[in-house]
Amino acid sequence: MRQKIVAGNWKMNLCFEEAEELVEELIDLLEDVELKADVIICPPFPYLEMASDYAQEELFNIGAQNISPFEAGAYTGEVSASMLKSMGVTHCIIGHSERRKYFNEDDKMLTAKVNQALMHDVTPIFCVGESLPEREAEKHFEVVRRQVRHGLFHLDTGEFSKVIIAYEPVWAIGTGITASPAQAAEMHAYIRSLIAERYDDQVAGQTLILYGGSCTAKNAAELFAQPGVDGGLVGGASLKAEEFVEICKLAI
Ligand code: PGA
Repeated sequence: MRQKIVAGNWKMNLCFEEAEELVEELIDLLEDVELKADVIICPPFPYLEMASDYAQEELFNIGAQNISPFEAGAYTGEVSASMLKSMGVTHCIIGHSERRKYFNEDDKMLTAKVNQALMHDVTPIFCVGESLPEREAEKHFEVVRRQVRHGLFHLDTGEFSKVIIAYEPVWAIGTGITASPAQAAEMHAYIRSLIAERYDDQVAGQTLILYGGSCTAKNAAELFAQPGVDGGLVGGASLKAEEFVEICKLAI
């Protein structure tokens, strides 16, 4: 059985006070439930220390939303994997479509980020997903295949086994339109088949693949019930403590 995971991607939202309030609300709610899923919250960089202090309660892990492709040194504005690790960050979102689009992160840069994360024992949550025109042109499998291959398939089996993948169709992110459960299941199975081809069935069977894109308390149960869907990467709904915890409860 693969461990279910629900990760909250806060993106560039909330001031410090609001962020602290959200963490406190999450703790109150999470203390009262027995979850099957592991919970990860991914606040913006400046709030990681605060969140990491609260994470001592062991109710959730802390993820970053970005990581430098470089090790250390004269890279103004960057945050390295070793810095994240030293602050108690365990996971990092890499290859999110917003970073690919607005910050021109290409396959080469993403490979370097994945390598940095793994080198410092930070688990990559590696995002892949096609745009609407790509799906309409029936290129979604081809696009996702390229992203997975270029971003991850240089890793050896031991390294690859530490990676979490998130399938996030770009047309579903922040739009209120989710992939249908069947579409999610189909793509998750496809990604798993690529992993089996590159590594083996055992590695494919153990890889965690999350779904992301307008995941809410209303649709999560059905999505998470699909074979091959191991939980979710939740954006907008992760900013509301009650809804986020509801979603976590649905990952069974
Ligand atoms: P959303 O974002 O849930 O707001 O669609 C998901 C994500 O971008 O990770």
